[in-house]
Amino acid sequence: MSTHRPVLSVIGTGYLGATHAAGLAELGFEVIGLDRDPSRIDSLSRGIVPFHEPGLAEMLQGHVASGRLRFTTEVADVAHAQVHFVCVGTPQGADGSADLSQVIGAVEALVPLLRLDSLVVGKSTVPVGTAAALRSRIEEISAPGVTVELAWNPEFLREGHAVEDTLAPNRIVLGVPGPRAEALLREVYAEAIAAGVPVVVTDLPTAELIKQAANSFLATKISFVNAMAEVCEASGADVTALADALGHDERIGRRFLDSGLGFGGGCLPKDLRALVARAEQLGCGKSVAFLRDVDAINLRRRDRVLAMAQREVGAFDGVRIAVLGASFKPGSDDVRDSPAVDVMNRLRRAGARVTAYDPAAVLTGRAAAPGVRFAANPLVACRKADLVLHLTEWPEFRALDPEEVGQAVRRRVLIDARNALDVDAWTAAGWAVRAPGRHLAAPARAGSLV
Ligand code: UGA
Repeated sequence: MSTHRPVLSVIGTGYLGATHAAGLAELGFEVIGLDRDPSRIDSLSRGIVPFHEPGLAEMLQGHVASGRLRFTTEVADVAHAQVHFVCVGTPQGADGSADLSQVIGAVEALVPLLRLDSLVVGKSTVPVGTAAALRSRIEEISAPGVTVELAWNPEFLREGHAVEDTLAPNRIVLGVPGPRAEALLREVYAEAIAAGVPVVVTDLPTAELIKQAANSFLATKISFVNAMAEVCEASGADVTALADALGHDERIGRRFLDSGLGFGGGCLPKDLRALVARAEQLGCGKSVAFLRDVDAINLRRRDRVLAMAQREVGAFDGVRIAVLGASFKPGSDDVRDSPAVDVMNRLRRAGARVTAYDPAAVLTGRAAAPGVRFAANPLVACRKADLVLHLTEWPEFRALDPEEVGQAVRRRVLIDARNALDVDAWTAAGWAVRAPGRHLAAPARAGSLV
């Protein structure tokens, strides 16, 4: 282990990179973040986080102010670091496979400039086999006499909990070529390791696959309960009671069994499709063919909620619909592959007049759902609505007073597409509440529906 702490670089300062860079500075390292987007670098250099993530701005500001954390758009500025974390995006390509151009571009720009023996650490989510190809490329382009090793260290942080997941992860996966890389990474993560965070040391392909497998498993768990919701709908059973009962079995566990509108975001949908695409390239497509069903079940949830809405209002044309929630999940302003945004856009295309409220995803929501009006608070969004759709389960929606909301709307009809509201309280206030996977009683107060 070196006596001086290594200087670290973080390449790509999106969600993952910005959080990782700030987290490494928090651990006491000198860190330089690199991104090709000047406006992003400008924001971060001023301590401004260009997305919603609780606690991140405070951590970033502290370390930018102390000078321990800097940002640049120039790759030459990071060349003196000994460990380089690659955190660039791997978006979904046209055929469902991961687009690796940013990962390859980052490595090709960096490695020829390195004059010290260094470690490049992939954190981006990539298909298994990517690291092996990158390793050969690194050998071709590294300067003579300089050893550049490659490791893979996938990241498991959740949006909305990024700071805690970075500082106190539930596991650390180190895909390493040998002991030198392992020792360096153990030094970087020494604090978490000393606190007892389990470390899985493995090879590069396993590390790559662990990440895609983890997200595909989580997606499968959600789609499993949503498949059960379909059976509940057909049979009169109740998916929430079913999930609660399954969850009491510790081997199953209750987390990620919340049935509703299904998963979205920048990770689960893309990673499961990329795993299918890679497995097909490897000739083992059959092994993960079920993941296509996981995807299909998930997308069907949106159709289901739209069908429920249609049943309540008849034709959508001119109908006023209030939508609570736009982000793909609470705690985030991210609307990538957001089920809520998809539903809103489809309602708009069918002629509905949609007014939405989201505590964070306003700018992002407006950009992703043109034609949807965004209100300043839930009551304004619900004004004169014929139907209220609860599409993202922000805690503040649970705190709404059903009577107060009832006075704002034209008809007290609610679809709780996330199965997260207190149905009894809403029903007691005269609301007709519908929820996917559930057969709910009629409202206690008759005559509240116009
Ligand atoms: C996911 C993983 O949970 C992280 O471990 C991983 O690091 C990250 O992807 C990534 O690859 O970067 P994230 O995309 O932040 O994290 O979101 P999740 O909390 O996993 O939620 C994903 C979606 O599933 C959301 O739309 C959420 O509403 C939905 N969901 C979640 C359900 O529909 N039901 C549930 O029971 C749980």
